[in-house]
Amino acid sequence: MDIRDVAEAADKREKERNQQLIYIDKCREIVKNKEQEKGRKLTSHVETFGCQMNARDSEKLRGILEEIGYENTESEDADLVLYNTCTVRENANLKVYGRLGKLSHYKKKNPDMVIGLCGCMMQEPQVVEKLQKSYRYVNLIFGTHNIFKLAELLYQVLTQNRMIVDIWNAADITVEELPVDRTYAFKSGVNIMYGCDNFCTYCIVPYVRGRERSREPADILEEIRHLAADGVKEVMLLGQNVNSYGKGLETRVSFAKLLSEVCRIDGIERVRFMTSHPKDLSDELIEVMAAEPKVCPHLHLPLQSGSSRLLKRMNRRYTKEDYLLLVEKIRKAMPDISLTTDIIVGFPGETEEDFAETLDVVEKVGFDSAFTFLYSKRTGTPAAAYEDQVDDATAKERFDRLLKLVQDKAKTACARFEGQTLPVLAEQINTQDSSLLTGRLANNITVHFPGDASLIGEIVNVHLDTCHGFYYLGTAVE
Ligand code: SAH
Ligand code: SF4
Ligand code: F3S
Repeated sequence: MDIRDVAEAADKREKERNQQLIYIDKCREIVKNKEQEKGRKLTSHVETFGCQMNARDSEKLRGILEEIGYENTESEDADLVLYNTCTVRENANLKVYGRLGKLSHYKKKNPDMVIGLCGCMMQEPQVVEKLQKSYRYVNLIFGTHNIFKLAELLYQVLTQNRMIVDIWNAADITVEELPVDRTYAFKSGVNIMYGCDNFCTYCIVPYVRGRERSREPADILEEIRHLAADGVKEVMLLGQNVNSYGKGLETRVSFAKLLSEVCRIDGIERVRFMTSHPKDLSDELIEVMAAEPKVCPHLHLPLQSGSSRLLKRMNRRYTKEDYLLLVEKIRKAMPDISLTTDIIVGFPGETEEDFAETLDVVEKVGFDSAFTFLYSKRTGTPAAAYEDQVDDATAKERFDRLLKLVQDKAKTACARFEGQTLPVLAEQINTQDSSLLTGRLANNITVHFPGDASLIGEIVNVHLDTCHGFYYLGTAVE
């Protein structure tokens, strides 16, 4: 983009932002009147399905609803329910239909109830068609590119008696500076880029999230400075492939450079990022990670498969050997780093030999944890049309074998810190035992330790007494 385009885009964003602030005011008026009619506050519930990107989008949606005057509630028996959907695998998609069915009962009781759907699933035309045909009680449908328009769309819902549908095929503009309701006071996700251009052959994300777009570094740093001033200690830089950050910016900035600049911000004590694609992970990034104490010693490095033949078919653009070499290089620079991964089982054409290669990589690397997924056919992706689909029983049997190995290796890997005293960011009261706090080590492993709510949001030194598979029990030390 040249300078003029950048200025024009900024101008457009500012206009759009002002427009949305006007709609927030208009909705607030309507909500206030309804409150008086009903003699109580109106409530809203935003439910997130899917990844960290969606979780961050939900914080923005909640921020707007709160500004309009809705009271956030955990219950789905609310005046407004919004599902921020995911479609990466079929079961994520099916879950939404199941939950929608339940919402119809609440709506019978409260006919004024507003039911909205947004996010990745809505970018699939066949989904929207199905909703329009069979789920007439849904009031609002929008996609991934226009979530900032929530107030405007809600205004239409509240003033017109029809289903409002607004799906964009691409992101014309992205409006950032609107209210946000952060789930945690002390940590926050920060989008550094949107979309994905990798087109792994199994994956629907590039179709529903659009082309890769990096945010300007100045905007990202400004957002993080504000977060730090607001008490945030830990940020997670978010993108589908953060290692290719900076492409298409007027002045190209590498992800490693951005990361080191984030570390210069006072008040930010921990910096994480998600997700790294192995093909783009640079030596510069490894250097910055090793040199910057604020960058957490954790790398999520999706493997997908250990078979070079399948990796090629998946369009991952690395081989088994490339992956193992990369791990070696990372471990050499940061011996204590936690490595985690994603693996798909049953990708079309996967043979027992291919699967054995995956087990071999898991055996060799010893991941701290791994998310394992059964391959799910996604309409419109190249792999969905491959003829050699693996039958369900074979895939399931391999999945179970992989899971067992992953768990065994993870147990050993996690236990390596037993007996050490390490800083833990206390995040919440333990959900099972209220005398305990739950927090995370810099490498993302969970630790439970005795403590009270006053420590939430603080970084506490904790002696790691015993490792229980994936988590530690510990004791705070002064
Ligand atoms: N951008 C990230 C991943 C985003 S999706 C990356 O490239 O690593 C998160 C994970 O879901 C992927 O890593 C992959 O393991 C899994 N996944 C994506 N599509 C899938 C499909 N069709 N079936 C099963 N798992 C899938
Ligand atoms: Fe999907 Fe591949 Fe993009 Fe990740 S890098 S979002 S797996 S297409
Ligand atoms: Fe799902 Fe969309 Fe994330 S499909 S995994 S919510 S980018």
